[in-house]
Amino acid sequence: MARRYFTTPIYYVNDRPHIGHLYTTVVTDTLARYFRLAGEDVRFLTGTDEHGQNIEKVAKKEGVAPIVVADRHARTFQNLWKEFGIANDDFIRTTEPRHRVGVEEIIRRIDAAGDLYTASHEGWYCAPCEAFYPEKDLVEGKCPVHGTTLELQKEENVFFRLSRYGGRLLELYQEKGLDGQPFVYPESRLNEVRSFVESGLKDLSVSRTSIKWGIPFPGRPGHVVYVWLDALVNYITALGFGSRDLSLYERYWPGIHVIGKDILRFHAVYWPAFLMSAGLPIPRQVVSHGWWLRDAKKMSKSTGNVVRPDDLVAAFGVDALRWHLVSAMSFGQDANFSDEDFLAGYNADLANGLGNALSRAVKMSRDAFGGKTPGEMCDDNEVRAAATDAVAAWRSAFESYRLQDAAAAVRTLVTRIDGYIAAKEPWKKVKAEGVTPALHRIQYATLEGLRVAACMLAPIAPRTATEVFRRLGIDRRAEDLRPPDLAWGQLPLNASLPAAPPLFPRADAKEYFASRGESASGASKERSVTDDKENISLAPTSAVPVPSESKIAISDFLKLDLRVGEVIAAEKVEKSRKLMKMTVKLGEEVRTIVGGIATAYTAEQLVGRKLVFVANLQPAKLMGIESDGMVLAATLPDTGEASLLAVDPSVPSGAKVK
Ligand code: MSP
Repeated sequence: MARRYFTTPIYYVNDRPHIGHLYTTVVTDTLARYFRLAGEDVRFLTGTDEHGQNIEKVAKKEGVAPIVVADRHARTFQNLWKEFGIANDDFIRTTEPRHRVGVEEIIRRIDAAGDLYTASHEGWYCAPCEAFYPEKDLVEGKCPVHGTTLELQKEENVFFRLSRYGGRLLELYQEKGLDGQPFVYPESRLNEVRSFVESGLKDLSVSRTSIKWGIPFPGRPGHVVYVWLDALVNYITALGFGSRDLSLYERYWPGIHVIGKDILRFHAVYWPAFLMSAGLPIPRQVVSHGWWLRDAKKMSKSTGNVVRPDDLVAAFGVDALRWHLVSAMSFGQDANFSDEDFLAGYNADLANGLGNALSRAVKMSRDAFGGKTPGEMCDDNEVRAAATDAVAAWRSAFESYRLQDAAAAVRTLVTRIDGYIAAKEPWKKVKAEGVTPALHRIQYATLEGLRVAACMLAPIAPRTATEVFRRLGIDRRAEDLRPPDLAWGQLPLNASLPAAPPLFPRADAKEYFASRGESASGASKERSVTDDKENISLAPTSAVPVPSESKIAISDFLKLDLRVGEVIAAEKVEKSRKLMKMTVKLGEEVRTIVGGIATAYTAEQLVGRKLVFVANLQPAKLMGIESDGMVLAATLPDTGEASLLAVDPSVPSGAKVK
């Protein structure tokens, strides 16, 4: 059986995940799910990159040990992946002992190959990249990735003889690897890597003495392992490299790394060179995707233009966002993220497309077939031909990483089914002729076509696929699909179809933007998607507090009616990750106030607490609940999590705050 080992990059634990991080994981999950469905033996790894200066800095600022920050963020990532239906087989954290032993082992091998030496080093250092750049790679003196001003740093470091590997790397780029594809996908990126190597490789500094938070460098007291050497090795330590049990390593290595283009050099130059030096097999392929942009800039924490998934997911569900991420970006290229595009795609493909076709077909079953699937299969039909074509296009798209074309193949099949229903007008036929064999055939073709479309949707939107199966009377999960499922003719006969609400209710763009206090046309260009409905009770989520330039008069401040209130009951709002509904006593008055604090506090932690509320805010509806006031909280800079303002318990409820 063919094998494939997919990896995502491991994520830094100094930021909450945004759409960019989500994209890398969703596309890798989609690929892993496709190849499992295609019958291959697939392993899929993701994890967190927990060492290095950036995490050390955050921990210092919070006054806690770095591992506390790492634990918290690792959990956030793990929870998010669960929420997004990510089917990873393992999750590696670079602070785990199994990782450390593997890093020590590869360094021992690189050292034994004579590729390490100690020397003094000066360079332009970008903290967000955790990398030194030579002067020639700077763009107007700034970091080529982040556009930030760099520091000139000097240190005594251990160096890796990267310069030795230029020739072998160029040979590697020449070879065709996986299924005749180049080592780096897409080929245009391979050319960039090739020119970088051709321009001459300098030895690479692989230790740091200026920080403590890292794996101690074997045999070099006072040095810790450079975070990229540490991080890259995760791909093999997670398979047991460095331990006694090498069964997974032997079964799955070498793997396929799915990454963003910003970290291509690390994966296509440094990582294969480390492996060559250690005498280990190099990766099968490095697959690089483009960036989600906002205002033509890469979305990133340091630029401050990130979109978080929370709101879109609360309003439209996880699979709607998975579908958008996969279908709206040409894999390998950059794309702009806009809520308008999201809503347009949602309505066209999911609400009016798949959802509507399914509703019509199920309604026909109810009206003419006693709520059941037909009793006979229909073999020869134009929908069957459309499904066969679509499956072939979908397969070839996935196998050449054209994920957007795989999504388009699903869309095309649904459109063909829709066209078929419109042309055959079964509702007219049933009225005119009753339930004839011809009507049976139409109904079978429609439902079976939708079953095939759901199989094709499964890698992209697995929960939706499982739900479509359920609505077609099929007891099957997206995860259980195998190649025979794609063949025509598997719809169960005479199966009862359950009653169900619309799969994807139509979205009203105006209403959506209004609920976020925006107009549809100028929607949220500067604002992050989280600065809205769910966060209405919080300070802005911007990571770095920016003092306002314009001062307000005391009379403006006095417009606010701030009061101490006592929480007498609290409950998490169902279907929302963040919202907490509180019953609050403000003096004599009792009010319902909803706040975005449920990820930071449980209901039990809130009841009995005295907090500060804005008492004269216009009421707002949050997830259907009218909130009459707002709770005040500080925003933790690195996580964006809420930290409530403490009030001395002796202060009576209703007391004014000024
Ligand atoms: N820790 C390193 C990776 C080490 S792998 C051995 C790292 N982490 S990261 O958290 O900064 O980024 C992880 C992934 O998120 C990368 O693939 C990166 O390209 C992706 N994205 C971050 N912002 C992005 C966009 N705006 N758009 C698409 N993906 C981007 O780098």
